Amino acid sequence: MMRRAKISVIGAGNIGGECARSIAMKELGDVVLVDIAIKDKPELHMPKGKALDLSCCGPVEKFDAKIVGTFDYADTANSDVVVITAGLPRKPGMSRDDLVQINAGIVKGVAEQVAKSSPNAIIIVVSNPLDAMVYVAWKASGFPAHRVMGQAGALDVARYKTFLAWELGVSVEDVQGMLLGGHGDDMVPLPNRTSVNGIPVKELLSAEKINACVERAKAGGGEVVKLMGTSAWYAPSAGTVEMVEAIVRDKKRVIACAAYCEDEYGVAPGAKGKGYFVGVPCVLGSKGVERIIGFKLDGEEQKYMDISISHVKELVGVTTKLYPELG
Ligand code: NAI
Ligand code: 2OP
Repeated sequence: MMRRAKISVIGAGNIGGECARSIAMKELGDVVLVDIAIKDKPELHMPKGKALDLSCCGPVEKFDAKIVGTFDYADTANSDVVVITAGLPRKPGMSRDDLVQINAGIVKGVAEQVAKSSPNAIIIVVSNPLDAMVYVAWKASGFPAHRVMGQAGALDVARYKTFLAWELGVSVEDVQGMLLGGHGDDMVPLPNRTSVNGIPVKELLSAEKINACVERAKAGGGEVVKLMGTSAWYAPSAGTVEMVEAIVRDKKRVIACAAYCEDEYGVAPGAKGKGYFVGVPCVLGSKGVERIIGFKLDGEEQKYMDISISHVKELVGVTTKLYPELG
């Protein structure tokens, strides 16, 4: 019998829980949800509770998946894919970067455990500030770079497409686009390469309207934080599970992910082994990031990409100051 994929989700909070639900609903594999015990409440076991609750959706939603909740990495042993959502989310008034101090320590600890328990896994990092946290997970796991990536572009482009589809009055399925750079307010949408089934969006909408969608996508995370008092989880989980699916089904999907770059897109030319993780179009399959698709950005696009890259480098600099061993 063929073995089902084993997918561990570290951090069983809002994003982790929704990822687990979606992975089970799509029958992508068995799920292990990991979290930590709540101080002063040793009687509670949140991941076990979520796993039990989710398991009982099976008969209604018609999925067969084993879902386990645990505090113990032994239960995650030999996972095929590990999604890291552990860490604090944003509160109103906070930027993603404000999370770096606390989340760097959490992601470092988690990645070290993952490397020990699942040495062949593919890691997808979700914790913020995303591009720096992928770097931390890469260094702390010691995994080859193609097996470590971050989820940002899948979410950011989904927001961009949603706002365009609303403006155009067309199905969200018929908007195509790409969005590069870091997962910050200086991410890089590419309106010149956005289309409605091949028809350039520039021929369908005014520059002002396209720009409004671009700006709303860039600030999309903050808009949700202001409304809910914490950060988004449905769309971030959808983007993450899109990546999990591409990997476990070896689909060779082209998705913008935070992937390790040196010469690509001018990220860190010639810096062998000292590159950075930045959002670029990747072919995702069973080996992880199987290929980065390169194309020539125009002058304006490259200018915005350079700004975004320099911000990613700054954040990684903050992280390596905190944890020199990751440098
Ligand atoms: P949450 O607070 O609902 O869940 C985080 C969970 O991580 C909590 O249950 C917490 O107990 C757990 N945790 C903390 N330390 C841990 C450790 N050492 N080991 C295992 N679990 C641990 O937060 P939410 O909303 O799920 O967000 C998770 C992260 O994802 C945040 O850093 C947030 O900023 C980020 N995020 C990333 C997005 C992206 O597109 N990359 C989008 C939205 C949020
Ligand atoms: C988001 O984009 C805060 O990264 C989070 O929703």
